[in-house]
Amino acid sequence: MSVLELRDVHRRHGQGATEVHALRGVSVSVEPGEFVAVMGPSGSGKSTLLNLAGGLDAPSTGEVVVEGAVLGSLSRSGLARLRRRRIGYVFQDLNLLASLTAAENIALPLELDGLAPRKARPLAEAALAEVDLEGYAERFPDQMSGGQQQRVAIARALVGERRLVLADEPTGALDSQTGEAVLRLLRAKVDAGAAGVLVTHEARHAAWADRVIFLRDGVIVDTSTGIGSAEQLLEVSS
Ligand SMILES: Nc1ncnc2c1ncn2[C@@H]1O[C@H](COP(=O)(O)OP(=O)(O)OP(=O)(O)O)[C@@H](O)[C@H]1O
Ligand SMILES: [Mg+2]
Repeated sequence: MSVLELRDVHRRHGQGATEVHALRGVSVSVEPGEFVAVMGPSGSGKSTLLNLAGGLDAPSTGEVVVEGAVLGSLSRSGLARLRRRRIGYVFQDLNLLASLTAAENIALPLELDGLAPRKARPLAEAALAEVDLEGYAERFPDQMSGGQQQRVAIARALVGERRLVLADEPTGALDSQTGEAVLRLLRAKVDAGAAGVLVTHEARHAAWADRVIFLRDGVIVDTSTGIGSAEQLLEVSS
């Protein structure tokens, strides 16, 4: 079973003269153990696609299916539970809670899901260690650099039993070495059986993916597999 499936998805923002048809009939599926990169010019619909995949937004028509569940047919609480348990999301703007420490930010989705704090805590500390931030558990976001905050956000997206990991330009604020480390973490989560979708502008980052899909004006214009495909797609697009 695919972890993620988009079936002829359309998304229109706004109405009338100001309507934007951000996605126009996108169909794609991502299997367990598969890492897909999404590339395309600014405004082509990449973030829209990721938001739909994560259940943060709903399609105008078409279906989004995560682990066999049609998101549009779930109750509000059912969707919230699925998002907390099974979907990890790294936002372009991090979304760490300023009033919580690094460890508390990471433990939050686990605790919301009913895990006792004393059980969530060691998982959060292990996730911090995975992103090389041992000793930062008690730091608040404003006591960390942008790159360190980014890594906390990654740790939060990977902690627990997430099956679908979605990342929108997760390397944006990072130097290239830390950026590579982040991609290695995402790749490892996918190799352990999750499905991953990465939005990126950089061919060198897309090269970590098994497959690259290229969006333009809300449609998939090309898809390609294997290392080097991203470079080819960029040549096609320019
Ligand atoms: N809430 C919204 N209301 C109106 N239009 C929107 C909204 N969100 C996105 N759009 C429009 O939909 C189109 C796709 O936007 P989207 O954010 O998906 O692009 P993107 O490929 O992620 O671009 P970028 O690379 O700049 O992040 C754009 O034309 C954008 O202006
Ligand atoms: Mg975007």
